[in-house]
Amino acid sequence: VLTVASDFSYHRTETIAHRGASGYAPENTMAAFRKAVEMKADYIELDVHVSKDGHLVVIHDNTVDRTTNGTGRVGALTLKEMLRLDAGRFFHSAFAGEPIPTLDQVLDEFRGKIGILIELKSPELYPGVESKVADALQKRGMDKARSAKVIVQSFHFESLKRFHKLLPDIPIGVLTNKASHLTDAMLDEFATYANYVNPSRNLVTADLTDRIHERGMQVFAWTVRKRAEVNPLLIAGVDGIITDFPDYVPSSHRR
Ligand code: G3P
Ligand code: CA
Repeated sequence: VLTVASDFSYHRTETIAHRGASGYAPENTMAAFRKAVEMKADYIELDVHVSKDGHLVVIHDNTVDRTTNGTGRVGALTLKEMLRLDAGRFFHSAFAGEPIPTLDQVLDEFRGKIGILIELKSPELYPGVESKVADALQKRGMDKARSAKVIVQSFHFESLKRFHKLLPDIPIGVLTNKASHLTDAMLDEFATYANYVNPSRNLVTADLTDRIHERGMQVFAWTVRKRAEVNPLLIAGVDGIITDFPDYVPSSHRR
């Protein structure tokens, strides 16, 4: 017997582990991504930057200061310099020695196991980052959307348009925390190249999800860090919840 608690219980909502299961392991590390798989999230979300010598690295901030034992801008450090850093201890001593991953490592370990939501972070700092990400996906035959379960998102709309021209089959997500980006006119414009509109959760209403759905796009809301933040999003009809705590999304909505 299926007991229906409310009209949104049937709706399947994707669970996206934000920077991996970053409530349980250091953000943007292999440990956090493995935890997300273990917790049966549908996707991992990660942030991509470019090292001084042109490698794609997975870290959130523009500097290594907050999440590692090093200092400096990501773009001013070589990959070798970054790989020596400890990206785990800031979270908990049990994760000491956890390195900054490269995008290549993440794609190699996780493709086929879990969806991958790649954020182009601060792409204005890294001219050509779109081609580097496109090459990494293409090299692995992950450039054909539906087989790969990869989405590319950014707050930087021009960067997304550049990426979309390179790999038109990969779904694109527009990130925003500004209500001014969510007018009908803006949504019409996003629909010309994007498949997802991913707003900060405080901007999500049933009216907004309706207007995004009417244009054939989906909605992934971010970032859930408290259990009480989940239900309003489910009621508003979002398609995905980006969260540090994948277990906060009720199992009736998960696979
Ligand atoms: O996926 C949405 C979210 O990651 C955007 O914000 O700062 O956590 O990268 P931020
Ligand atoms: Ca992000």
